[in-house]
Amino acid sequence: MEKKRILTGDRPTGKLHIGHYFGSLKKRVELQESGEYDPYILIADVQALTDNFNNPEKVRKNVREVAMDYLSVGIDPKKTTIYIQSMIPEIAELTVFYSNLVTIARLERNPTVKTEIAQKKELFGESVTYGFLGYPVSQAGDITAFEGQIIPVGEDQLPLIEQCREIVRKFNHIYGDVLVEPEAVLSSGKRIKGLDGNEKMGKSLGNAIYLSDSEEEITKKVMSAVTDPNRIKKDDLGNPDICMVAYYHNLFSKEEDVKKICEECKAGKRGCVVCKRQLAQNIIEELRPIREKRAYYESHPEEVEQILKEGTKKAQEVAKQTMKKVKQAMKLDYFE
Ligand code: TRP
Repeated sequence: MEKKRILTGDRPTGKLHIGHYFGSLKKRVELQESGEYDPYILIADVQALTDNFNNPEKVRKNVREVAMDYLSVGIDPKKTTIYIQSMIPEIAELTVFYSNLVTIARLERNPTVKTEIAQKKELFGESVTYGFLGYPVSQAGDITAFEGQIIPVGEDQLPLIEQCREIVRKFNHIYGDVLVEPEAVLSSGKRIKGLDGNEKMGKSLGNAIYLSDSEEEITKKVMSAVTDPNRIKKDDLGNPDICMVAYYHNLFSKEEDVKKICEECKAGKRGCVVCKRQLAQNIIEELRPIREKRAYYESHPEEVEQILKEGTKKAQEVAKQTMKKVKQAMKLDYFE
């Protein structure tokens, strides 16, 4: 039996952080290592441009950064195809074809797009671009060009996969059974809060620890993490439930240590500075193999380039085959 194709992707707008790691990267490596799937990872530079069209340099630079992040967490190019979206022109073609199958009202009702537009007032003002409003259509192109069957995503992406499924059904109804309908599976990854306690970890919020951060950067960031504001002196009784240091200890420290840490904190027997130093050390250790692998790729950019080149070439072949079928179905197969 053929292995099911898994398709995932990221917008290259910044380096990846521990939120990405716990939220999706760990899961992708796990799925890859199970050997049961055929995983594809798309670096969605065209999608990144929908809200960074005025900053092409940023997108270009981050294609490499994201690729290095993948490689350093254990995405193995022998097992997973990593490729660049803009190098697959079929995705753009499919986007045009699919745009006839989607109404503007439907796009405007997409909860993810709606939320993002509200967050991007600064970029779009009162009126959003056609490209941004339409990015779910392009994402349907991403998925269907590669006949993605399983799409592991976070909650926020579910409306996009649902919209893709609608497009697939409509296409198949009109033109014949050509496209594969994908299935979203919630990646059971945790959603990690920021160092400041914000629900989301993100670059714009300045509250992230990056996989590429140096030991010094990690320590500095952990020292600035938000703790129980009522605790001023060491012997004040602390509340770990509202302390970000305790929150991260839960992710990076041994269970028995966490228990002791919280007990000492509640009893006013543990200072925040010591507690932070211990946490920083644990994060540094956990991320060490990733950081070392990343340093390797940073000093071997030609290897990263080659991996992207080969992955993209393989992906181009797959997309070509899909396009052949699509054009035939749409009566657009004029001549070879
Ligand atoms: N929209 C996704 C995100 O912001 C990235 C993405 C682009 C994607 N194309 C995709 C995810 C296709 C899954 C499948 O995270």
